[in-house]
Amino acid sequence: MSLAKAACMTVLFFAILLSVAVIGFSVKQIKNTSNITDLEKTACTNVDIIQPFRYTVGEYYVFCSWSTKNSAIRILIALGGALIGIGLFATVLARKKVLSIVFNVVIFILGGFGIYSTIVDAQSTINSKKFCKNIIGSLVIAQEAGAECSYEPIYITIVLNVFNGLLLMITSILIFRFRSKVITGAHHKHPVVDDIDYNYKYPTQAEAAVEEKQNLI
Ligand SMILES: *[C@@H]1O[C@H](CO)[C@@H](O)[C@H](O)[C@H]1NC(C)=O
Ligand SMILES: *[C@@H]1O[C@H](CO)[C@@H](O)[C@H](O)[C@H]1NC(C)=O
Repeated sequence: MSLAKAACMTVLFFAILLSVAVIGFSVKQIKNTSNITDLEKTACTNVDIIQPFRYTVGEYYVFCSWSTKNSAIRILIALGGALIGIGLFATVLARKKVLSIVFNVVIFILGGFGIYSTIVDAQSTINSKKFCKNIIGSLVIAQEAGAECSYEPIYITIVLNVFNGLLLMITSILIFRFRSKVITGAHHKHPVVDDIDYNYKYPTQAEAAVEEKQNLI
């Protein structure tokens, strides 16, 4: 395997890992959660909350999930990145040229969609953060209790998502750039070398066959 091919395969491997990480974080943030028993059931539904929403009061948090649309877009793209990424890994190793090219184009497009999904997520988050600050700022009770908008886990999802989009595109560009080394056709199976060898060593085909049979035993 050439250095270029090994490098591209390594980058592809990390792109697959990042897609899996995006799926993991997204699935964890599908549900409203809290570490005060059941608080999310009232806190997330009693006002028209702009999602995603998260605040802490001292050592407790309440998290109101991403909207279904944001989660669905992000998860589908990352799932595509992981599956097509694994597919591309397999077709490159199996020297399936046409399929590798198709998968590589799809990976690039998925990377673009990943950036789009990040923009959608960032827009929702900017709106919800504004909303969160307004609410907490307007509630004396919340301020006295020390409530704070704490969006760190939400930011982690956004950062993973943008890196995943970028890495998918970079992977695809690298593979395209080094396509002659990475995307190679079927291996030729030493076609005539053996015959030439035997013809040289043995005057007849029959003698060559006998020798070959002995080698096999
Ligand atoms: C989670 O919170 C959102 C918004 O705060 C709300 O619309 C949704 O119904 C909640 N989900 C569940 C399962 O209660
Ligand atoms: C609740 O979550 C917060 C923030 O993630 C954490 O710092 C705290 O230790 C948790 N508290 C309990 C009682 O689980």
